[in-house]
Amino acid sequence: MTAILVTGGAGYIGSHTVRHLMEQGHEVVVLDNLQTGHRGAVLTPHFYEGDISDAALITEIVKKHRITAAVHFAALSLVGESMKFPTKYLEANTVKSQLFVHALVDNGVKQLVFSSTAAVYGLPTQVPIPEDSPTHPINPYGLSKLFIEQYLQMMDTLHGLKWVALRYFNAAGASEDARIGEAHDPETHLIPLVLQTALGQRESLSIFGNDYNTPDGTCVRDYIHVRDLADAHARALQALENGKPSGSYNVGTGQGYSVLEIVEAARRITGREIPTILAPRREGDPDVLVAQVDKIAADLGFTAKHSDLETLITSAWNWHSQLSC
Ligand code: UFG
Repeated sequence: MTAILVTGGAGYIGSHTVRHLMEQGHEVVVLDNLQTGHRGAVLTPHFYEGDISDAALITEIVKKHRITAAVHFAALSLVGESMKFPTKYLEANTVKSQLFVHALVDNGVKQLVFSSTAAVYGLPTQVPIPEDSPTHPINPYGLSKLFIEQYLQMMDTLHGLKWVALRYFNAAGASEDARIGEAHDPETHLIPLVLQTALGQRESLSIFGNDYNTPDGTCVRDYIHVRDLADAHARALQALENGKPSGSYNVGTGQGYSVLEIVEAARRITGREIPTILAPRREGDPDVLVAQVDKIAADLGFTAKHSDLETLITSAWNWHSQLSC
């Protein structure tokens, strides 16, 4: 039996994708260094704790499990941290990914789905953002991912590696059975922070700026359910299997919500008070990030099905509330 290698399969989006691929009947092997991932979130018995830059380990895994395709999540992903430690991000995300891609190609694996980000666009010149917009990242995190997208294209030219880069907008939500969800330490993402505030684990939520060029002054983002993201990865793998050409795709809903709209929806859904305080703008936050989603719909047949605010926040709430029981 052939299998799919998932790096970062112990992480938030990785663990949901592993589960989805297994439900589709794939054999899945996870490689994760558990630096930010959680061992308990790995749902396949085939688990390797190790580094993506360990070529000998990649060779062993590919041979042993007859790997035919890989999904590469393993990365550092905090924008703020990347501003403080740019070299750390370029090493972990760019240098190590290059070594990983080489190890795949050397072992004959020619299909790769890569975790990219809306941060490759920087400050968008057009919203909703189409994939062919200029890519001028404004933080090292976005740059570290853009380098790899470009490198993958070179690997296609040189070695026939077929790849899909999925540029995520704002991932959120948890599995329907509340078994896996979003757990970062430290937590910096809006929806988990809002729900922790609803649970009384934090005194208040800081709203980072209310003088943005948006209807209510707070930043607008395109929130996509992690289950939809998992589906997008499965479709990308299938497209590569079907011989579709390499390329980059936005993964979002095409619909944006402001920070205040998220807080209001969370108040309604949880029935809890969510105290807020106004805080200064956070460095590097664009006013509006919303995906244009026509390309992924046309090429991969993908549309978000679970990303309405009700489903999204309810699933995250169920997961956060059972954690605190
Ligand atoms: N926000 C607050 N208060 C908080 C936390 C967040 O007001 O306590 C605001 C942010 O300023 C932003 C919005 O909520 O306007 C969403 O912030 P997140 O930190 O949840 O997400 P980001 O939009 O900053 O980042 C996400 C991904 C990144 C990706 C980026 C694309 O987490 O990996 O989108 O720009 F790079």
